[in-house]
Amino acid sequence: MDDCTLPVMNTGLRGIDVASSKICDVQGKQGKLIYRGFLIEDLARNASFEETCFLLLYERLPKKQELKDFNQSLRQKRKIPENIFSFLKTLPSEMNPMDVLQMATPLLVQSDQTYGEPGIENILFSAENLIAGIASITAAWERIRNKKEVIAPDNTLNHGANFLYMLNGEKPDDETARFFDTSLVLHAEHSFNASTFTARQVASTRAHIYAAISAAIGSLSGALHGGANVRVMKMLKEIGSIEKIDAYINKILNSKGLIMGLGHAVYQTDDPRAIIIAPMSKRMGQISNQPLWYELSRELEKKGKAAFKAKKQKEIFSNVDFYSASLFYAMGIATDLFSPLFAISRVSGWAAHVIEEQYAMAAPKPSLYRPGAEYVGDYCGPDECVFTDMDDR
Ligand SMILES: CC(C)(COP(=O)(O)OP(=O)(O)OC[C@H]1O[C@@H](n2cnc3c(N)ncnc32)[C@H](O)[C@@H]1OP(=O)(O)O)[C@@H](O)C(=O)NCCC(=O)NCCS
Repeated sequence: MDDCTLPVMNTGLRGIDVASSKICDVQGKQGKLIYRGFLIEDLARNASFEETCFLLLYERLPKKQELKDFNQSLRQKRKIPENIFSFLKTLPSEMNPMDVLQMATPLLVQSDQTYGEPGIENILFSAENLIAGIASITAAWERIRNKKEVIAPDNTLNHGANFLYMLNGEKPDDETARFFDTSLVLHAEHSFNASTFTARQVASTRAHIYAAISAAIGSLSGALHGGANVRVMKMLKEIGSIEKIDAYINKILNSKGLIMGLGHAVYQTDDPRAIIIAPMSKRMGQISNQPLWYELSRELEKKGKAAFKAKKQKEIFSNVDFYSASLFYAMGIATDLFSPLFAISRVSGWAAHVIEEQYAMAAPKPSLYRPGAEYVGDYCGPDECVFTDMDDR
């Protein structure tokens, strides 16, 4: 083997571009997040979640009538097949909602006559079916596991407000609905993060979009990815009061543990989404009369960053999960639903990536993702092992 063909070892593909994409740019050094050319700050201020979905799926902002039609189309898909409820009712109530979501998502094919058939219109229909359906499944599971009646969708409400209604049986007030809608915009897309890469990798095998999205949900469930907001809330509860922050930080940093919600594989500055979510978390804490969780987060961020710098001689920054945890908690949402909330939004980005993977001809990408791995296992001496009979081992 000559030097040119030697494989390059890069653990975890950090810093390696594996494809080209027109969907999202994350500029880690500058702390910029861009969906199809638009800064996240601009979208969070001006766009609804539905508008953001349209942008991600159709590659441009919708005109007035297009958004109306898109809204209508999503609303028609909110009502999921009855037998998904029957399936959910067979599951033990203590099952993790992410596991439930991963299992139930492929059942949405029942309301999709042409799923898996080639054609951009077919996959766009599936994408909308998934965006509408995943929210409905999550709300239904919350009701079913708590032995409550499933709530039918209210098509006068937008996507976020309807989800909260289907979850709680009460329409949210305007401010809560607006904050929730903004948090959906913020979580919608983030380039080749772990779950999106999973979706693209599955899509590259030419599996259908429901298989790709279900796999992505599995990836998102991990503690270092979408599961981090759940762990942030657990951490805040474990700390419990401002006075206990110093002791907690010392304990974690001295035991090589992680302060959840700090650190990011790409950003080398505060995550722009954390900057937008923090004031919403503060306000939600005031509205719900639970200011403690925001205050704890604020203080932990300050002290955690300083302690990390003192110990490691380098900086660490807050990520999106740091303040989304206290925001969702103040909205009265069960802690183990925080990761499904992430999925309810991120499905729009995943879908855009699956479409790009399977339909965009121009973007350079592999026909099938298939990285190598350095073999560090054993041989028996200089040669391969010889298979021995059971009695001779
Ligand atoms: C997200 C994360 C995996 C990014 O990791 P990364 O940038 O590749 O950083 P590394 O894992 O290489 O960590 C570099 C060092 O900082 C430490 N570190 C990273 N994040 C830390 C955190 N949140 N708390 C304490 N130490 C941390 C690591 O332990 C490592 O220490 P070492 O050099 O002694 O081994 C990591 O920061 C993390 O696990 N954060 C907590 C989980 C979280 O919030 N995830 C949500 C991400 S959006």
